[in-house]
Amino acid sequence: MTPSTLERVLITGATGFLGSWIVSALANRGIPVLATDISEDYHRLDALCPNPPEGMVERRICDITDPEALDLLIGQMRPTGIIHLAALQIPVCRERPAAGAAVNIGGHINIFEAARAHRIRRIIYTSSIAAKPRGSANAPSNLYGVFKKTDEEISRIYWQDHQLPSLGLRPYIVYGVGRDEGETSAITRAIEAAALGKKYEIPFDTRSCFQYVGDIAEIFVRAVRSDWRGALLSDISDRVQSTDDVLAAIRTVVPEAEVTVADTARVSPEDGFDTSPLRQVIGDLQETPLVEGVLKTVELYRAIDARRRQAQSA
Ligand SMILES: NC(=O)c1ccc[n+]([C@@H]2O[C@H](COP(=O)([O-])OP(=O)(O)OC[C@H]3O[C@@H](n4cnc5c(N)ncnc54)[C@H](O)[C@@H]3O)[C@@H](O)[C@H]2O)c1
Repeated sequence: MTPSTLERVLITGATGFLGSWIVSALANRGIPVLATDISEDYHRLDALCPNPPEGMVERRICDITDPEALDLLIGQMRPTGIIHLAALQIPVCRERPAAGAAVNIGGHINIFEAARAHRIRRIIYTSSIAAKPRGSANAPSNLYGVFKKTDEEISRIYWQDHQLPSLGLRPYIVYGVGRDEGETSAITRAIEAAALGKKYEIPFDTRSCFQYVGDIAEIFVRAVRSDWRGALLSDISDRVQSTDDVLAAIRTVVPEAEVTVADTARVSPEDGFDTSPLRQVIGDLQETPLVEGVLKTVELYRAIDARRRQAQSA
C-alpha cells in the first residue's frame, strides 16, 4: 500500500458532540483520524476517550470558511474519506444569519471544492431533520433548516456536474454524553440531571426519533469505509417516540429522577422517513432501545462525574 492509499479519515467539527463520538469510535477501531475544528477545546473527546490508542488521532485547527486552508490541509493529508460535521446550530443561525450561512453553506461548498480538487471519493456530511419540509409552507421552519436543505441541493449538483459522490445523513434528536449545545440538547440534559440527582424540566413536548449517539457514530464509521455512487441523502431512523417515552425510560433507569416535561408542543415531522439510501451503503441499521441508551448515558455521566470528583480531591 502506498502512503496515499493508507486509510485516514478527516473530520470537521471534531470537538463537537457527534465529532467526539465519531473520533473516539474510529480511533478505537484502529482507523487514523485527522480531527479538525475551529476550536481547540477537546473536553468532550477527553471525557469520552481519556486514553486514545497511541498515534490514532491528530488534531488540527481548521476554519471551514477558509477555502485555502482547507485545500492545503486536504491536499497535504490526502484523507481516504471526509466526515463533515462542522456547523452552527439553530440558535446561532437565528441570531447571526450571515455567520450561519458562511459556515453552514459556504463551509459546505469549501469542503466539496477541496474534495473535488483532491479526488476524495467518500464525503459523508450531516444535514438535519430540520431540512425536511413541514407545516403549511411545506418547507423548513428555520434558517438552520434552510441552510441544511441548501447543502443537500449543493451536494446533488456536485454529483450532477462533477460526479463527486456524497452521503448526506439527517440526524433527528441525538442524545448522549456531550450533547450540550442546540435546542434539542434538552433530552440529554434531562438524562444527565437524572444521573446526577438534579431537577430538570424538558422545555417541550414532542414526538421524534430519539437516537443514541453510539449508534450514530457506528453508522459514520461503517459509511466512511464504504463505496457508493451518487449524491445520496438518507434519514437514519423511522422509529418515532414521544417525550413521555423518554421520561418513562429515564424513570425506569433512575426511579427517583426529578425530571418533567413542559406543556409546550414542539412540532416535528413524524412520517415520510426513508432510511433505504443509508442501508444501501452500509447494510442493516442497529437501533439501541431508548431504555438501553438512557442506561448507557446515565452510567457514563456517573463515571465521568466520579472521575472528576476523584481528580478534585487528589
Ligand atoms: N446533535 C444532533 O442531534 C444533530 C441533529 C441534526 C443535525 N446535526 C448536525 O450534525 C453535526 C454535528 O452536530 P453536533 O451536535 O456535534 O454539533 P456541535 O455544535 O457539538 O459541533 C459542531 C462543531 O462545529 C465546529 N465549528 C463551528 N464553526 C466552525 C468553522 N467555521 N470551522 C470549523 N469548525 C467549526 C464547532 O466548533 C463545533 O465543534 C452538525 O452539522 C449538526 O448540524 C446534529
